[in-house]
Amino acid sequence: MEGPKLDVEVAGIRFLNPLILASGVADETGASMAEAVRMGAGGVVTKSLSLEPREGHPNPCVVEFPYGILNAMGLPNPGVRGYSDEVEEYLSTTRGSAPIIASVFGSSIEEYAMAAGAVKDLGVHAVEINGSCPNARGLGLQFGQDPLVIEDLVKEVKATVPIPVFFKLTPACSSIVDLAQAAQMGGADGLVAVNTMPAMKIDVRTRMPVLTNVTGGLSGPALRPVGVRCVYQIANSGKVHLPIIGAGGISTWEDALEYIMAGASAVQIGTAVTWGNLDVFSKIKEGMMTYMIEERIGRISDMVGSAKGVRS
Ligand SMILES: Cc1cc2nc3c(=O)[nH]c(=O)nc-3n(C[C@H](O)[C@H](O)[C@H](O)COP(=O)(O)O)c2cc1C
Repeated sequence: MEGPKLDVEVAGIRFLNPLILASGVADETGASMAEAVRMGAGGVVTKSLSLEPREGHPNPCVVEFPYGILNAMGLPNPGVRGYSDEVEEYLSTTRGSAPIIASVFGSSIEEYAMAAGAVKDLGVHAVEINGSCPNARGLGLQFGQDPLVIEDLVKEVKATVPIPVFFKLTPACSSIVDLAQAAQMGGADGLVAVNTMPAMKIDVRTRMPVLTNVTGGLSGPALRPVGVRCVYQIANSGKVHLPIIGAGGISTWEDALEYIMAGASAVQIGTAVTWGNLDVFSKIKEGMMTYMIEERIGRISDMVGSAKGVRS
């Protein structure tokens, strides 16, 4: 008898399994992204790329808690041209077995579109618009909290590239459904929910914020219930009909299934890779397979949105 099927299709892109390496983690090089695939990831997202190179924030830019990571890296990256060899290496090593999504950002809608156009030329399978980075002033969040800006931003990127475009949402908003709907209006092919949550830590001895940037983005287990709620609300709104990639605090197969049952077609994993190692992909896959055999479920996609109360 054939085993349960883990492959999924999201916005027309086929992944051998629904576990994708999240942006900003273990994606410095083509080799590290290819290693994630060798270790079981079904796809990868590049670090967020701008058209021109950008230095990040000075240290300290990461604080660890027992329940997550607070980071304010500041979107350091070598620019699209400076990263092109990494994409090339990834593509030649993985030979089409696992799609690569390029995350892009800019300081204006035009810059986002130019970065998207440039990554498309590198041969990536899709673009992910990072409109939700909470720790780089003038970049990211101010684009990602205003529905009108989101709609224009997605429209402009869609007009520039012929490949699928995902919009990555911030959980820092009063209505995640309004933001998701705006991305849909702009023509997005899919959503990623969620990016990190703005947060901070103060050193009580120095009475100073620990991060040089003062605030940063919280990821890891503390973020998971927020991310699951966001995915569930979008999937259950009856207003948004785009595929959703869930993200936030996934480190076990139960975590991944929670997102899938909430309505995610696939999931991204970041902090668990930083904390543990790339084993997380194969462990989650094994756990999901065992669950599916026990529950007599043939395809992982049959579980998307299966949490009771979600409309089908
Ligand atoms: C160190 C670090 C760097 C990150 N850099 C980016 C980035 O460049 N672009 C982006 O869209 N998200 C970035 N993220 C957010 C992750 O892609 C992900 O959305 C978030 O961390 C929630 O997932 P997780 O809890 O599995 O890490 C970063 C997260 C971490 C921990």
